[in-house]
Amino acid sequence: MSDSNQINEVISTEHSGDVALVCIDNPPVNATGHAVREGLEIAFAGLIADASVKVIALYCAGRTFVAGADIREFGKPAKAPGLSSVLNVIEQSPTPVISIIHGTALGGGLELALATHARVAIEGAKIGLPEVLLGLLPGAGGTQRLPRLSGLAFALDVILSGRQVPVQEALEKGAVDRVVAGEPRMVALAAAQQVLDGTLATRRTVDLSAEYDRAVIDATLAGVKKKNPHLISPVKCVEAVAACNLPLAEGLAVERQCFMDCMQTPQRGGLIHAFFGERAVSNIPEAKGETRPLDRIGVIGGGTMGSGISTACLSAGFPVRLIEVKEDALARGVATITKNLDGAVSRGKMTSEARDAALARLEPSLAMEDLADVDLVIEAVFEKMEIKQEIFGKLDTICKPGAILASNTSYLDINAIAEMTSRPQDVLGLHFFSPAHVMRLLEIVQGAKTAPDALATGFLLAKKLKKVGVLAQVCDGFIGNRILGHYSKVISYLVLDGASPQQVDNALEGFGLAMGPHKVGDLAGLDIGYMTRQRKKEEGLDPNERYGGAVADRICEQGWYGRKTGKGYYLYESGAPVPNPEVAGFIDEVRAADGITPQSFTDQDIIDRYMTAMISEAARVVEDGTAKRPVDVDMVFLFGYGFPRFRGGPLHYADMIGATELVRRIEAYAKTDPNYWQVPEILRKMAADGTTFADLNQ
Ligand code: 3HC
Repeated sequence: MSDSNQINEVISTEHSGDVALVCIDNPPVNATGHAVREGLEIAFAGLIADASVKVIALYCAGRTFVAGADIREFGKPAKAPGLSSVLNVIEQSPTPVISIIHGTALGGGLELALATHARVAIEGAKIGLPEVLLGLLPGAGGTQRLPRLSGLAFALDVILSGRQVPVQEALEKGAVDRVVAGEPRMVALAAAQQVLDGTLATRRTVDLSAEYDRAVIDATLAGVKKKNPHLISPVKCVEAVAACNLPLAEGLAVERQCFMDCMQTPQRGGLIHAFFGERAVSNIPEAKGETRPLDRIGVIGGGTMGSGISTACLSAGFPVRLIEVKEDALARGVATITKNLDGAVSRGKMTSEARDAALARLEPSLAMEDLADVDLVIEAVFEKMEIKQEIFGKLDTICKPGAILASNTSYLDINAIAEMTSRPQDVLGLHFFSPAHVMRLLEIVQGAKTAPDALATGFLLAKKLKKVGVLAQVCDGFIGNRILGHYSKVISYLVLDGASPQQVDNALEGFGLAMGPHKVGDLAGLDIGYMTRQRKKEEGLDPNERYGGAVADRICEQGWYGRKTGKGYYLYESGAPVPNPEVAGFIDEVRAADGITPQSFTDQDIIDRYMTAMISEAARVVEDGTAKRPVDVDMVFLFGYGFPRFRGGPLHYADMIGATELVRRIEAYAKTDPNYWQVPEILRKMAADGTTFADLNQ
C-alpha cells in the first residue's frame, strides 16, 4: 500500500512501507527553480520528522533528472530557500537519502545528487557540472563534494570542461554508486529496499575528505589562465575547488563567494544569452512547420565548400551524391572528404568504423542526372550568378517534384537563381561557413517564393547536422557577410589613419577574437580580396566611399598573399607570425599620397570603432528585417564568425554600451567620414525611448 502527497505543483511524496519517495516533476528538465527548492524543503522537513520513514529515495519524472538550477532566475532577486541550504538539510538528514539519476544530472542537479547519501544511476545517464560554460561555477557544493567523492583531478576536469560524463566513467570514479536498468520510480523503490536490507551502503559526502595536492591546483590554474586568458569563471572554479581541504562549511563559503563574483560579470550575461540564443533561433514558426522528406542529399561541387558540406551530411548519416563536371575534380572532392573524415577520427570525434560507413554512403558522379531521386540538392559551385542560374535551370529538368533546390551562395540573390526554375517555391539558400563540417552556423535564406515546408526542412537539416540554423532574408551577403562587408572597411581605415596592422590585431585579440583580422587575412589568402577589389575597380568604385584597400593592394602587388606565400601583413618564415617590416613602408606611402596625418589610437579606440561599425550594420540588418531579431544576428556571429561567446554577440554587446553612447560615437566619427558613419534609425529611436535590442528579442 502506498499513499501519496502533492507538496506543491512540482514536488510530491509517496510512502510505501518504510520507504518514502520524493518525486520532482518540473518539465522540461526539472530545473531547481523556486518551487522545486521550496517543495523539497517542505517535503524533507516532513519526511525527516516522520519516524516511520526509514529511507528516502529521490527521483525525477519526465525525460531527465534535474538538469541544473533554473537559468532563467539568474540576475533576478534571489528567493529563499537557496539550493545550498536545501542540500545541507538533505545531507544532514539522519534518515538515509538516496537519489536515482536518469537522463542528465547536471549542475545543481548533480549537486543535489551529491548531497544525498548514495546515487543509483540508470543506464545511459550522464552527469556533469556545466556551469563554467555559462560563466559560472557549481554554486551548491559541487566544487566541495565532487573532489571528496571522486578525487581532485577528476573534479577539476569535470568542472573546468563542463563535459557530460558517461555513467560508466562516473561509476569508476565513485561519483555514482551503482548503475542499473529500469524506470526511475521502480528503481527508487528497489534501491530503497536495498538500503533497508544492507545491500546498498549509504554515507554522507561531507564525512569524506578530499585528497589534496596543491601542485595539481597550481598547475591547473596556470593552464586555465593560458588557455582562456579572457575568462573569469574557470579561474574562480579552481579557486573554489582549492578550498575543498577546508571543513565543508568553510569550503562552501569560499565557493559561494566565487559563485557570486561570477554572477556579477558581464561574461555570465553573455554566455547565458548564447545558451538561450542557440535555442531561440529555431524557436520560430518558420522552423516548426511541416517538413518535406529528407533522406537523400545531392551536393554539386567538390571544392572546399562542397566537400565540407558533403562531409557534414555524411557524418550525420545521410547518403550523399556528389556531382562534379570533371574526373580529376571529382577525385579531389572525394579525397578532401576522406581527409576531413580522417581528421574527425584522429581528433576522436568519430570512430574508424563510422568513417568507413560514412564513406560508403558517398556516391561520386559526373552526371547531374544522378540527382533525379534526391530530396535536397545543395549547389556549392563557383560564386558566379550565370553559372548558378545555369545549374538551377538544369536541376529544374532533372530533380523529382518536391525536391528542395538549395544554393550555398554567400551573397547572391536567391530570387534571381529561383527564377531560372519553374518551381521557385522549392528554392532557398543554405549558406554554410568554412570549414563546413566544423563551423556550426547555417544561414537559411528565404526567397520571395520559398514554400514554408521547404524552409522548415532547411531547419530540419540544420538540426540533423547539429548546426545552428538562422533564418535570413535575401540581400547582398545575407546577415553575416553583409555585416562583415561593412565593418571590415573600418579595419583598413584604422590602419590608414594611424594604427599598425599588429596593433589592430592585438587590440581585437585582447577583446576576445581568436585571431586578429590581418592574421585572418593572411591565413585565408589576401588574393581573394585583391581580385574582388580589382573587379570592383573595373566596374567603377563608389566616388563617395573612402577607398580602404590601398595598403592591401600594395602587399598583393608584390605577390605576397599571406601564409601560402610566406609573406603578407606578417612574415611566416619561423612559423609564428612576425610583422612584415615592409608593410609599414607601404602604409607610409599610402598615407603620404592621401595626405593623411597619422593619429594615435588606444586599443580601446580600436575596439570601439570596430564594434560600433559592426553594431551599426547589424542594427540595419534588424531594422530592414534581413534578420528576424537581434538574437539571430548574435548567433550568426558566435557560430559563424568566431565572435567571442562570452560577449554574447554584437547586439548583446551593443546593449551593454547603450544606444545613447553608440549614437554619440557614430556622430563623432561621422565628422571625418559622414558617408561611412551614419546613425541607423533604429539606434536613434532606442536612444530616444530607452529601449534595447533585448526588448526586440521578446
Ligand atoms: N534552466 C532553465 N531552462 C532550461 C535549463 C535550465 N537549467 N536547461 C534547459 N532548459 C530549457 C531550454 O531552454 C529549453 O527550453 P525551450 O524548450 O523553451 O527552448 C528546454 O529546457 C529543453 O532544453 P534543450 O532544448 O536544451 O533540450 P535537450 O534535451 O537538447 O538538452 C539538457 C537537455 C542537456 C539538459 C540541456 O538543456 C542543457 O544542457 N541544459 C543546461 C544545463 C546546465 O547548464 N545546468 C547548469 C545550470 S547552472 C546551475 O545549476 C548552478 C548551480 O550550480 C547552483
